Amino acid sequence: MSDTPTDYTGPKRVLSGMQPTGQLHLGNYLGALKNWVSLQEDGSWDCFYCVVDLHAITMPHDPKTLPDAVRSAAAAYIASGVDPEKSAIFAQSAVPAHAELAWIFNCVARLGWLERMTQFKDKAGKDKERASVGLFTYPVLQAADILVYKATHVPVGEDQKQHLELCRDIAARFNRDYGNGEAIFPVTEPVIQGPGARIMSLRDGTAKMSKSDVSDNSRINLDDDADKIARKIKKAKSDPDALPSEEAGLEGRPEAANLVGIYAALTGKSKAEVLAEFGGDGFGRFKPALAEVAVEYLAPISDEYRRLISDTTEIDRILAKGAERANAVAAPVVAEAKKVIGFWGQ
Ligand code: TYM
Repeated sequence: MSDTPTDYTGPKRVLSGMQPTGQLHLGNYLGALKNWVSLQEDGSWDCFYCVVDLHAITMPHDPKTLPDAVRSAAAAYIASGVDPEKSAIFAQSAVPAHAELAWIFNCVARLGWLERMTQFKDKAGKDKERASVGLFTYPVLQAADILVYKATHVPVGEDQKQHLELCRDIAARFNRDYGNGEAIFPVTEPVIQGPGARIMSLRDGTAKMSKSDVSDNSRINLDDDADKIARKIKKAKSDPDALPSEEAGLEGRPEAANLVGIYAALTGKSKAEVLAEFGGDGFGRFKPALAEVAVEYLAPISDEYRRLISDTTEIDRILAKGAERANAVAAPVVAEAKKVIGFWGQ
């Protein structure tokens, strides 16, 4: 990871978020949450972790269940090790500056930049005309989420890479057009690292592990208990060959590569180290070993999640306190953006 980019001289800050659209899963944990916790524990970062409910309404949603979905995501953050005493945990909609800066950025980003976003194409499907306008400008709001804290680093999974490049383009363009020679916004550095950056479905090694997959067996949810975790790994798709002793041997074996990657990400080893240990073994031996480490790492998270979610008053208290901290940082930043853009009364 390189240090804070450009001539920006502000504090080192971290911002990341997840959508409250279904139970968080192993991909969210290994791709993002685990790194959120490491950055928090490093101690030299100011960390902001939000639940992005403004993004959740870009697709059809149920207003009755959204507040609980936000609480559930916050509980999963905390169960995974995000400490509300150290990091601000909050709902995006509780900090109005996100939406305000997003509007300004809608006028900075170019249509052509958004038209290149592959996630919009995937989510809108064939019938683009019926997609919400919010879904199209989704990455602009994401840039506002990040830059409204002047976040210098953003820990995410690999699938967010393109959105973070757009965020960098928006920051650079804003600085150029309105900065009067100064870097008002940092050109944010993505933190995409380790074998957990792209976890695939347990049923299909070529598809991303996702909340929206119809098969529950395709993913390990962060509220699955020990039995369920072990059962899903036992049922995971694999192949008939023994594991290779070197990484090159995983080529063309997406399921094997994924299971080895999960083992590596959970234990903090490299894939090469895992293969040095298990090369020559078949899945009859490897899967029980994987189930054991998965249960060891994930069952405590799922136990803690279930404990936390049984007391929503505590979660609401944490979310309210997090929103207060977030607002205190975001409000002056949006005021600065409004001033340099030329709004009356600023
Ligand atoms: P979302 O809610 O789809 O995913 C949340 C985080 O989990 C990571 N992730 C994965 N990592 C590895 N393997 C997987 N199978 C996997 N699935 C998901 C994602 O990369 C992400 O880090 N647009 C974002 C939310 C967002 C955001 C932000 C993120 C809104 N504003 C500002 C960072 C900064 C999203 O939909 O993530």
